[in-house]
Amino acid sequence: MESTRRSLLKARIRRPLAVSTTVILLIAAAGAADRELSTVVVRGRSGMVASDSPQASEAGARILKANGNAFDAAVATSLALGVTRPYSTGLGGGGFLVAFVAEQERVIVLDFRETAPAGATRAKLAALHEDTQRGQPSPTVYGGAGVATPALAIGLDEILSRFGTMTRKQVAQPALELCAAGFTIDPHFRETAAEILERYERWPAFRDRFPFVYRSFLMPGVGRSDSDRITRPQLANAIRLFVTDGAQAFRDGPVARAMVAAANAAGGMLELDDLRRYKVVEREPVRVSFGDYALASMPPPSSGGLCIAQALNTLSALQSREGFRWDDDAVYSHALTEVLKHAFADRARWLGDPAFTQVPMARLLDRGYARQLAARIQLDRAGAVQGYGTPTEDHGTSHFCVADRFGNVVAMTETINTEFGSQVVAEPFGIVLNNQMDDFAANPGKPNFYGLMQGEGNAVAPGKRPLSSMSPTLVMRNGKPMMALGASGGPRIITATLQVMLNVLQRDMPLDEAVAAVRLHHQWLPDEIYFDREPPAALRDALVSRGHTLSKKRKKGVVQVIQILPDGTLLGASDPRKWGRPASAD
Ligand code: DON
Repeated sequence: MESTRRSLLKARIRRPLAVSTTVILLIAAAGAADRELSTVVVRGRSGMVASDSPQASEAGARILKANGNAFDAAVATSLALGVTRPYSTGLGGGGFLVAFVAEQERVIVLDFRETAPAGATRAKLAALHEDTQRGQPSPTVYGGAGVATPALAIGLDEILSRFGTMTRKQVAQPALELCAAGFTIDPHFRETAAEILERYERWPAFRDRFPFVYRSFLMPGVGRSDSDRITRPQLANAIRLFVTDGAQAFRDGPVARAMVAAANAAGGMLELDDLRRYKVVEREPVRVSFGDYALASMPPPSSGGLCIAQALNTLSALQSREGFRWDDDAVYSHALTEVLKHAFADRARWLGDPAFTQVPMARLLDRGYARQLAARIQLDRAGAVQGYGTPTEDHGTSHFCVADRFGNVVAMTETINTEFGSQVVAEPFGIVLNNQMDDFAANPGKPNFYGLMQGEGNAVAPGKRPLSSMSPTLVMRNGKPMMALGASGGPRIITATLQVMLNVLQRDMPLDEAVAAVRLHHQWLPDEIYFDREPPAALRDALVSRGHTLSKKRKKGVVQVIQILPDGTLLGASDPRKWGRPASAD
């Protein structure tokens, strides 16, 4: 990594912003062309929030300062993210939480992922795709058929009532203030709006089908400028109902009815009963050890924890191999790619909602199996794509982390899936509804929006949770969390989380470099390596000479991380790729 570090990442230290908060901004200035890749690292002792929105991090930090714990702050951060990142997440989506509960000295996992509505049968979705002509927008990406049962509010209420210490009114206050005062959009918002506006230009009918997103967020014709302010009066009404009625408003009350009406008017299948019946599921984390570290990450219906665990086990098995070196960019990147091809091949073959699909967890986590996979990897060349995994056939999303002074640590990833989800909005409440149905194998035999091939285990069924890549993860040492992290970016969530973790744990990079460093992605199919920006020429050549195909397309994940140093210092880092910024409670 030396050459990458030298060429892209010259660390510059700014003076603390305020003496009392000991904030140190480490700017990894990466030259004019890569200016957006300056990782902001904030240092603190009494609590930290790292999210992809500066206002949302501040919302959480405010709760920590008012003596709230990490769970109170997580709910406050999540509500605020729904205000400032309407294309990534919000009350129309769902998510996962992996957290260390200090008082109980244990890791808990909550799953508030959306489910397929009772009326969403496999045959119905297959028929919808069949009737859609080539070149026309996918019915599970755009419109009501993409909408799975929104569960974020139900999840937030459960987090707060089980692990929080504050009232809904207290934790909702920062988000309500943001709705009223509005916020200025940042370059990430502007770029996203411009990109989505292009789709509305390609398919002009979208303007009438999705008027709220078009008028409120995309600003037709002129695009958005940095000084534009967005207020969210309708969303404030939903948050107020969350305060007074909690999850009930989103299961059976006015918000629930508005979401059902909006989804149905846009051709969806959501019913009130889907919301009434929805259950948050507590799960056991996927656990894997790596050297001195013990990881706890998200189990199915996410593929994140299993893919990360399998990748780490396979890398561990490879590291004793002659010629393997963590500090040799070419060897490391090649080995990582081969390991990822195995993990994503198994993802496609085996994974799905464990309530519907038998997921061979023990086998996928078995070190003997990882040794078998490692034995099939050659360090000097790429293998043929059919030889991966078990030998057989076959700018949505937001992650944040919170740590408090009591020792609680939260890693939470939430999403409405692709940018602005289904584009359908429950207008009276300004809630953008997800298009999580596209995370199923909704179009049989065809890859989904992210190019992911999906197996039988992830076929659509009423009530089923679509397979996810979201990977909220805790890294523990001697029984205590030393890092919380996760990412957004579809399947790049897995690879970005894994690489930042390895950069810190194994490749001795300081946090700012670990986050900013160039990253690769391979998801088995298509059989190509994607970089998130131009890799160093030597690395490119080394990978090509080993037989890899490098895509010209740039694909990125966005990581948020909190590192807990042995002396208790908290380092929060937000990925410069989405213009986030952590906030300390000091
Ligand atoms: O659950 C998943 O894996 C996807 N719905 C996540 C989508 C995502 O990360 C979009 N991001 N930028």
